[in-house]
Amino acid sequence: MKYEKITNTLRISKEFMKDFVNDGDIVVDATLGNGKDTLDLCKLVGSSGRVYGFDIQELAIENSKKLLMEHGLLDNAILIHDSHENVDKYIDEAIDFAVYNLGYLPNGDKRIITKASSTVASVAKVLDLLKENGIVMIVSYIGHPGGLEEKEALEKFLSQLDQRKYHVLKSEFINQKNSPPLLYLIEKSKTP
Ligand SMILES: C[S@@+](CC[C@H](N)C(=O)[O-])C[C@H]1O[C@@H](n2cnc3c(N)ncnc32)[C@H](O)[C@@H]1O
Repeated sequence: MKYEKITNTLRISKEFMKDFVNDGDIVVDATLGNGKDTLDLCKLVGSSGRVYGFDIQELAIENSKKLLMEHGLLDNAILIHDSHENVDKYIDEAIDFAVYNLGYLPNGDKRIITKASSTVASVAKVLDLLKENGIVMIVSYIGHPGGLEEKEALEKFLSQLDQRKYHVLKSEFINQKNSPPLLYLIEKSKTP
């Protein structure tokens, strides 16, 4: 690999994940996909933590289940076949961390994508569930149809969050071709 540190958004997001997620944490993977983020989260939270994973595709649930079973980590995960927009129907405890890896399932049906309105609705609910100093991390893709619209809706929502309640950071490559993904990090403040 030509670069080792400022490599790509996904790799950088994984470094942040390691920084932010601790043993025993209650976390959410809002877009299970093939389960790679959930697998990393299960390792980070350990046997005393819990990972809630959401996806609207049965295939994603199956792939994630298989991956977790192969690693003997299915016990810490709760896999939910529903839209992350309904996160509040399944989680009634405060969470430490949530990750969204938006877009479509790698090697799956590219027509099934996360959408602006449900993504924003879900992030709003997840922010309500977030503990003080908890983190939400979002990787947003703009290279596919609908991606730019979703990113714009998300950014509009995130940029109007009250800075006394949330800090929002955006990270993007500004000299790369082919629409590289963007990374958003949100921290909830302590109540004064
Ligand atoms: C880029 S993939 C996620 C990759 C995954 N994090 C991984 O590590 O393999 C995006 C996933 O979001 C799912 N998705 C789309 N709309 C959704 C929704 N409303 N709620 C939950 N998942 C959704 C898609 O089915 C797809 O599997």
